[in-house]
Amino acid sequence: MRLKIAVLAGDGIGPEVTQQATNILRAVAELGGHDFTFVPGLIGGIAITETGSPLPTATLDAALECDAVLLGAVGDNKFNALPPDKRPEAGLLQIRQALGGFANLRPSIAYAALAESSPLRPEVIKDADILFVRELLGGLYFGAPRWWNKEPAVGEQEEAINTMRYTKAEVVRVARIAFELAGKRRGKVTSVDKANVLEVSQLWRATVSEVAKDYPNVTLEHQLVDSMAMHIMNIPRNFDVVLTENLFGDILSDEAGVITGSLGMLPSATIGGAVNLYEPVHGSAPDIAGTGKANPLGAILTAAMVLRHSANLEQDAKAVEQAVHKVLNAGYRTADIARGQQPGQTPVSTQEMGKLVHQALAESIDRRQAMHAV
Ligand code: IPM
Ligand code: MN
Repeated sequence: MRLKIAVLAGDGIGPEVTQQATNILRAVAELGGHDFTFVPGLIGGIAITETGSPLPTATLDAALECDAVLLGAVGDNKFNALPPDKRPEAGLLQIRQALGGFANLRPSIAYAALAESSPLRPEVIKDADILFVRELLGGLYFGAPRWWNKEPAVGEQEEAINTMRYTKAEVVRVARIAFELAGKRRGKVTSVDKANVLEVSQLWRATVSEVAKDYPNVTLEHQLVDSMAMHIMNIPRNFDVVLTENLFGDILSDEAGVITGSLGMLPSATIGGAVNLYEPVHGSAPDIAGTGKANPLGAILTAAMVLRHSANLEQDAKAVEQAVHKVLNAGYRTADIARGQQPGQTPVSTQEMGKLVHQALAESIDRRQAMHAV
């Protein structure tokens, strides 16, 4: 298996967690005899500092030539005063649009080993296993018109506008992905909208209901986004695939980090475009960058998604996920998932966590190969 992966580590903790993720991919390649190459590129604040642009042409050209793009995180407080189109985040939005992936898959799983890391009671999060399918190229993030009129005739008339816009075709294509994935899971799609207020949500709801007719084995339910925010915290195990527009998915997927115990655990994959884009859900966390406190498991689980969705190496993807389980079960914790002074827990750094997963993975792949040899 040959795979060319653009590695855009970005800002803050991006480089340190991405390093651990690429180590894991290298290990899978070595153990399985695959040929993975890694093409580094600049994005975000570091790209602004070095080239003046949050997404240099060289980065985009290289990314479009690759089979997958693995991204760390973008964002740095020193750019906070810049307008949205000049900020590090603009680089991320531009690359999302250029690669064309419209379905952002964000699994949120309650790991038994982390039951105590969540502020929710263990019996609430037990067995939760949600897959968010977040529409990634529409809605308020990209809708026109958008502007901020800073110089109105009368000062207090200063105003800003963003537009939540969807075409039916945009809803159909992401809904299909949600139904197909639900068909391979527990057979339920919960579609999230605000159809009691917004026309765009009424179109969303009607369209999703229409698409549902092609998937008789999948149950569809609709939820309003406000009550959904509550239901996710109340009975997370009730949800299987959760389909959302762009901003609702941004918000709810962070909320669902609470189920897993930390935002630092959440991976994501964006599919459906020319090149798949993989990024952990957490941000650049500049406050802990370089301190060894960052949790690399979100990035490592993102690497597993690369194996699953871009390399068709399902067994290896599972092996990486199981290695993560094993390390968590053995009590190793980065700062974000360490709760108080729990007995049986060992605090570890970003690097140590990466190494432990690597070891567990190598052992399991060795065992698999030994079994095949007999
Ligand atoms: C995410 C992030 C991004 C988003 C930001 C950094 C632009 O919050 O991936 O969830 O809002 O999509
Ligand atoms: Mn977000």
